[in-house]
Amino acid sequence: MAKRVRLFEGTPLATGECRVLPHQGPVPYRSLLLSMTDRGLRVYFNVCRHVPVPLDAGSFVAPVDDGDWVCDTHGARYDLSSGYCHTGPCLGSSLLPVRVELEDGVLYGWFGEDGGPET
Ligand code: FES
Repeated sequence: MAKRVRLFEGTPLATGECRVLPHQGPVPYRSLLLSMTDRGLRVYFNVCRHVPVPLDAGSFVAPVDDGDWVCDTHGARYDLSSGYCHTGPCLGSSLLPVRVELEDGVLYGWFGEDGGPET
């Protein structure tokens, strides 16, 4: 069964803005990647598809370069809008998306019971 979790409220992200948020899920689902693209808000688990480590290596500094999330470990590059890995050792895979909804200025995400991905 899925559960809804409050992610944050306050000033929405501006177009082009990216953040890393802590998340109370099981390892490796301990943080999320948020980006406001020109196609809208995108949220992914901060877990590389090559080796299950956070793209930012735990720094909570958004690892973004030229329109991509970039993994600090081996340099995989994921498109901000689609989460698709177009360069690197996990070429062709995608970041795991999080289903989100905005309600009364609060952003919520949907997760599995343990805080990991919905099943
Ligand atoms: S762990 Fe991310 S590219 Fe290898």
